[in-house]
Amino acid sequence: MAITITMGIQKGGCGKSTTTGILTHLLSRNGYRVLAVDMDSQGNLTELLSEQPSNECMGKSVLEAMQEDNVEGYILNITDHLDLLPANNFLATFPRWLYTGKTYKGDTIPFSGNPSSVLDHALESVRDRYDFIVIDTPPSLSEQTTNALCASEYVVVLFECSNWCYSAIPNFMDSIHGANEFGKRNTQAIGVLRTMNDVRRSDAKAFNELIAEDYPDLVFDTVITRKAHVGRLSLYGFNQNAELRQALGQYEGFYKELISRVEGK
Ligand SMILES: Nc1ncnc2c1ncn2[C@@H]1O[C@H](COP(=O)(O)OP(=O)(O)O)[C@@H](O)[C@H]1O
Ligand SMILES: [Mg+2]
Repeated sequence: MAITITMGIQKGGCGKSTTTGILTHLLSRNGYRVLAVDMDSQGNLTELLSEQPSNECMGKSVLEAMQEDNVEGYILNITDHLDLLPANNFLATFPRWLYTGKTYKGDTIPFSGNPSSVLDHALESVRDRYDFIVIDTPPSLSEQTTNALCASEYVVVLFECSNWCYSAIPNFMDSIHGANEFGKRNTQAIGVLRTMNDVRRSDAKAFNELIAEDYPDLVFDTVITRKAHVGRLSLYGFNQNAELRQALGQYEGFYKELISRVEGK
């Protein structure tokens, strides 16, 4: 049965999509069967893994899968061990559909049930096909985020070393507790990953230390720094390229820490 992990924080530009892409790449490269799920209408994870514009998956995305209550038929194969449930801009209409039954196509598909457990339910028939399901989330505490949290046993909290991200953390931790209460997967934070660290800035160093004091049992020892190779993954993707090894290097430590925490649970 797959272990499901959400990558989240309700703030943009914290490395969620990049880290989700890298984690799914490393897991699949190490032989695990992986499903990457894009729950952000920006479709960045979709474009990173599929190397196609997210509009290519119009009508064939996680939104339609949730409306059909079954992801089967909406999964894109990426590599031997890696599949993707893609997203595009229309995922932004998900809350409207939940509360009115109206789809972006103009038809009506009535919804009744727990509005936070739609994704969890739709994933049911494929959970035994994967070792890991990893979900990318949008930069807001939206229905897309609560659905990702309620579908997951574990959450990796992305912390970009800045003041506004620092102030976002307590609310996000509350959302995880809410998912634990209202979902059925005993959702819990498995770690806080400090990302996009600018080693030249003393304020970034201070926030790194502050978050470690606040969440001593949760922070990963690995701190991800800003590196141009990582930023350029969005251009070159995960197919063999000159920069890939350098881009992935600093994520290996995070990967090992995460696997050992999951195995220890
Ligand atoms: N470690 C890193 N070093 C340099 N650039 C990065 C790094 N991680 C992510 N980026 C870049 O920063 C931007 C924001 O990252 P992204 O993964 O899209 O964040 P989020 O999904 O949280 O909005 C993107 O342009 C991405 O390519
Ligand atoms: Mg993103």
